[in-house]
Amino acid sequence: MAKDPVRVLVTGAAGQIGYALVPMIARGVMLGADQPVILHMLDIPPAAEALNGVVATTDVVEACTGVNIAVMVGGFPRKEGMERKDVMSKNVSIYKSQASALEKHAAANCKVLVVANPANTNALILKEFAPSIPEKNISCLTRLDHNRALGQISERLNVQVSDVKNVIIWGNHSSTQYPDVNHATVNTPAGEKAVRELVSDDAWLNGEFITTVQQRGAAIIKARKLSSALSAASAACDHIRDWVLGTPEGTWVSMGVYSDGSYNVPAGLIYSFPVTCQNGEWKIVQGLPIDEFSRKKLDLTAEELSEEKALAYSCLS
Ligand code: NAD
Ligand code: LMR
Repeated sequence: MAKDPVRVLVTGAAGQIGYALVPMIARGVMLGADQPVILHMLDIPPAAEALNGVVATTDVVEACTGVNIAVMVGGFPRKEGMERKDVMSKNVSIYKSQASALEKHAAANCKVLVVANPANTNALILKEFAPSIPEKNISCLTRLDHNRALGQISERLNVQVSDVKNVIIWGNHSSTQYPDVNHATVNTPAGEKAVRELVSDDAWLNGEFITTVQQRGAAIIKARKLSSALSAASAACDHIRDWVLGTPEGTWVSMGVYSDGSYNVPAGLIYSFPVTCQNGEWKIVQGLPIDEFSRKKLDLTAEELSEEKALAYSCLS
């Protein structure tokens, strides 16, 4: 029997990421080939002409009505020389107002993914101004960083990306994020092996590997004069697919989610953690040992998120 359609909202639908993301969703990359979708595409009036190239609206209420999944890409991207938090004042006010629209008009239990930067803080503002949306339903995208970390390891070891798993992105989708390989493994003909065992170069793992992943977004902007689009759209599909359909047994992924104080990360921040998903719900992976090097990095990125939160509120006042 055919499944009931799922309504998926994409904001910023006339932008770079939107242009790549909308056809991926329509093709079933996000929710599976057997899942019918009804796409709601929102952009602002100046983009209405570009939006006519797809089917959509500039009315936020119409866009949000009845949606089961909201992928929030709308906003302004950073340019060369900017940090992601430099687009804060422009973007957090969008997330404050769209929070109310989602709260009033989205379907009950709508899952929200914030992509627009500063992604963690926009998601936090959306959560705080949509108090009736459960915090477990609001997330931000750090899967792109997660995929970049998998890519770095696979390149270094000359193995398939799909054979590498369980890297972790901790914290902010910013240059303070901590890409952690301490628990990552590679599927080899001789069984599963730790990345730390296969890459014996600690200096690389604790240095260039981390900075390459942290700086990848900036490197793309420098090269393209535009930020990443196809990889971001693909990561957004990965994020929603695993959240809705579940993570494979023994595998975790990174998602920016509301901190409950796990790993001594201050509660009340949207922070990227390792999570597993089952039955449409994510759960933070517990009990991973955190060494001193990692502890400092987890704390540093949490501090930046606390500062961003204060800055966001100052922009809104
Ligand atoms: P873009 O400028 O090409 O597209 C953004 C679109 O949002 C534009 O069409 C714009 O008109 C629209 N928009 C602006 N205000 C809006 C509003 N109030 N409601 C609806 N739409 C609105 O930018 P892009 O390259 O597609 O990037 C979008 C965002 O995603 C940026 O903030 C970028 O920094 C961020 N990004 C995040 C990640 C991540 O991993 N989290 C990755 C790449 C890009
Ligand atoms: C990325 O990581 O590519 C995006 O967040 C875009 C950016 O500003 O870096």
